[in-house]
Amino acid sequence: MPAPEHATDDVTERASEHANQHANQHANQHDPVHAAAASVLGDAAAAQVTTLAGRSRGTLATVLTHASVRRFTPDVIPDDVVQALRAALVRGPTSSALHSYSHVLVRDTERKRRLAHFAGDQPWIDQAPLLIVGCADLRRAREATHARGYRYTAHDVRMLISATADLTVGLQNASLVAQSLGYGTVLLGGVLNGSLEIAQALRLPERVVPLVGLSVGRPQSDRWPAPRPRLPLPLLLHDETWSLDEATEATLLADYDARTRARGDFEGRRIPWSAMGRGREDPIPEGAYGWLEHTARKQGRATWGPQGAKVDADLGAQGVMVRSAGDSDGPPTDG
Ligand SMILES: Cc1cc2nc3c(=O)[nH]c(=O)nc-3n(C[C@H](O)[C@H](O)[C@H](O)COP(=O)(O)O)c2cc1C
Repeated sequence: MPAPEHATDDVTERASEHANQHANQHANQHDPVHAAAASVLGDAAAAQVTTLAGRSRGTLATVLTHASVRRFTPDVIPDDVVQALRAALVRGPTSSALHSYSHVLVRDTERKRRLAHFAGDQPWIDQAPLLIVGCADLRRAREATHARGYRYTAHDVRMLISATADLTVGLQNASLVAQSLGYGTVLLGGVLNGSLEIAQALRLPERVVPLVGLSVGRPQSDRWPAPRPRLPLPLLLHDETWSLDEATEATLLADYDARTRARGDFEGRRIPWSAMGRGREDPIPEGAYGWLEHTARKQGRATWGPQGAKVDADLGAQGVMVRSAGDSDGPPTDG
């Protein structure tokens, strides 16, 4: 007896569903968007995300497959791409519509070389054809305040924080646009360490303070770098309220650390033992240097304190001093 039609359909459907799933799984293994999503969400959730990729007009793909690039070809960036980056730098949201940022685009080879030196001699800054120096602009709003005859009272830390957020939004948007067009980028917090020297080299007015940079160029390699690992999601994301207990945190960090040690993720950028100011022999052997040791050394190295003092002094020399709430300057208030 022939099977009822709907049953045949059902079996055929299930068979074809199975075949599709198999094909999708196979395709997913080679789909960089799925792979990037799976690396943080796991396979099942990544499959959901991957189905949205087409609808997102490329944004998901660009965001999820991000990887910093530190080897660039000297190819000049064409003007249309630069114009797209310029638009992206200013189209993002800006706190209170203040626009408390100014970006400087540097392409001149010699100027870039000097700035690379001030930002910690990072060779990729020199190599990339474009450097964008993101500056907190704490001048413009203060001038406007004075010009309208008011005292400027925004000397506490809020303006510095919102200006930093503003400029980072712009740099990240430019970075995503660049990556979507096949250019590589790397953000540069090292700019902060040479803030005063960079401000002088760029002839910035007082209170326009270089904080973060972005290098942009064609990646040297034909292959886009694989997205780098992230800490497990329970360490980074919470639903509704904080959902992490200390024991879970310690276990997840230890697991993650073990994986970074096994892969050698941080060996190439080991902070030398000499930087720790603790004797001669590095007690951590090859293969045992992972995320935990690297993170601890970053914060604990002997240069951290003096470098921080320089940043404080640099900001002060550029007219930015975080003062107590209630401080003000400019024209006296009435009465
Ligand atoms: C605020 C900030 C500052 C950074 N500063 C530097 C820097 O000065 N030099 C550098 O090579 N990378 C810098 N990076 C890039 C990080 O090292 C990189 O994002 C991180 O190692 C993760 O790698 P990925 O971006 O490839 O995923 C910075 C990133 C951020 C967000």
